Amino acid sequence: MVIDVIDTAGNVTEEKIKNKIVVIIDVLRATSVMTTALANGVNAIYPYKDIESVIENSKKNSNPLLCGERKGLKIEGFHCGNSPLEYPHEKVAGKTMYMTTSNGTRAIENCARYARKIYIGAFLNIQAVTDKLVENRDDAVLVCSGTNDNFSFDDALCAGEIIKRAVERDAHIKCTDMALALKFIADHSTDISTTLKGCKHFEYLKSIGFEGDMEHCFTMDKYNIVPEYTDGKIKIA
Ligand code: MLT
Repeated sequence: MVIDVIDTAGNVTEEKIKNKIVVIIDVLRATSVMTTALANGVNAIYPYKDIESVIENSKKNSNPLLCGERKGLKIEGFHCGNSPLEYPHEKVAGKTMYMTTSNGTRAIENCARYARKIYIGAFLNIQAVTDKLVENRDDAVLVCSGTNDNFSFDDALCAGEIIKRAVERDAHIKCTDMALALKFIADHSTDISTTLKGCKHFEYLKSIGFEGDMEHCFTMDKYNIVPEYTDGKIKIA
């Protein structure tokens, strides 16, 4: 089994992910929101690249939850933005989400045609996702969504932590150079917030009032679930 990493949603290619097990990572905040919402009882999440697709497809549902962000902020007319704290059990249980975000849902769409399986990963469910990969034993690609096609350290640190835990469990796993580099960083990181201090998207979200999201998104193993994308929607695997 080999683990590879792609650094941004825009760098996903058919060649790199064809028939591979893929984990989409967007710690700040799309995959943290998806994991939180499903853990809190959401039925399913339909992810889309664009706002128009959310509006159009949500018409098929009599009580949809329209969710997502642009520039980190709630989209006009939508029910929820992209803060995981907006998805408590009492508000979302039993609902179906239609979601678009700037990077995370785009990463999913870019992988949808080629990957064999697509899992959703975050610090929140990091051990559950790692276990799934190690148990599958097939080549895996961790797709860091990045921010507007730029490398984003929060996603890379999460990928590094998955690789570190996977190799600890199975020493026969092979890593590409990129995977080794991220594992090295995770090996030397003691605290997520300290490691990520100064990172662009982390600081941007704080500047627009989402400091509270960080504590939630940087909690390891809060949820023992693995969301999986199949047939256009994300559900707990
Ligand atoms: C994204 O998918 O681009 C992010 O989740 C943006 C955000 O932090 O709201």
